[in-house]
Amino acid sequence: MHGPAALQLTPDGRLKHLLTTEGLPKSLITELLDTAETFLSSQGQPVKKVPLLRGKTVVNLFFENSTRTRTTFDIAAHRLSADVVTLDIRTSSASKGETLFDTLKNLEAMQADLFVVRHSAGGAPFFIADRVTPNIAVINAGDGTHAHPTQALLDLMTIRKHKGDPANLSVAIIGDLKHSRVARSLIHGLRGMGCPDIRAIGPGTLLPSDLGHLGVHTFHNIDDGLRDVDVVVLLRLQKERMTSALLPSEREFFNLYGMTESRLALAKDNAIVMHPGPINRGVEIANEVADGPQAVILDQVTNGIAIRMAVMAMTLSTQQGGHS
Ligand code: CP
Repeated sequence: MHGPAALQLTPDGRLKHLLTTEGLPKSLITELLDTAETFLSSQGQPVKKVPLLRGKTVVNLFFENSTRTRTTFDIAAHRLSADVVTLDIRTSSASKGETLFDTLKNLEAMQADLFVVRHSAGGAPFFIADRVTPNIAVINAGDGTHAHPTQALLDLMTIRKHKGDPANLSVAIIGDLKHSRVARSLIHGLRGMGCPDIRAIGPGTLLPSDLGHLGVHTFHNIDDGLRDVDVVVLLRLQKERMTSALLPSEREFFNLYGMTESRLALAKDNAIVMHPGPINRGVEIANEVADGPQAVILDQVTNGIAIRMAVMAMTLSTQQGGHS
């Protein structure tokens, strides 16, 4: 692996940070998913905690809003018995002009072991991983429009659980791929797992120009793109990242690309419907699909806890010389 992505692996290929799914070997993705499966089975027990990270300090640094990612990282760290600190950025000294680098160095001085970072600037977790003291792990919890690797891993876990090996599946990703770090990371993850048929469906204004290089087939007509797929991934319109109006209206988007029961019938009978959340009902998804039998959206959230436990356990094990 070359470039920034190389930061996340040791010379012998072990995971020391998780920054991106781009170029992540199939063997490592599979190890992460298998480890998460073991954590998932322990979550039904009366005592859900395991002592793997006892005595370790996890610091959540969310410079951008989050419900699912922040909460599931928090739960995951507690279930591994770590001490967890969530810095409230709005009331932190970042508002007094402290730089990201100085914030980081101060948290290091408090003997943090692992940073979970979400930032609106693409590359921020890479910046931190490049400067952090050795033995501290960094996990990217979403950076700008760039990457959201734990979301991609929980998506892969959900796909594998419900539909089997991605190497035998057709996956359609629908909506605003242009501004979606979720879509980008999932495409890299699916490619890493050998998925032969990845489709992107949306208007030209919401599809990035480099999809062809990533081996993704693009469709502007949703009926054509949905035909016989095993997995349907819906995305919300990320208006906070749009610098100009890229579609006439939300109603128009729903008419052309919204997932309704009749559209879903074009996919395979037992196709699953996924969404990273937050969902916008009546924009990218109809109520009857969001609440219907093919939706696995809340299972994705549950799987997110197990995936984040696996990522924290594996990266800290690498960084601190133990075994996960
Ligand atoms: N899927 C996801 O990243 O959701 P949050 O923004 O709520 O964390």
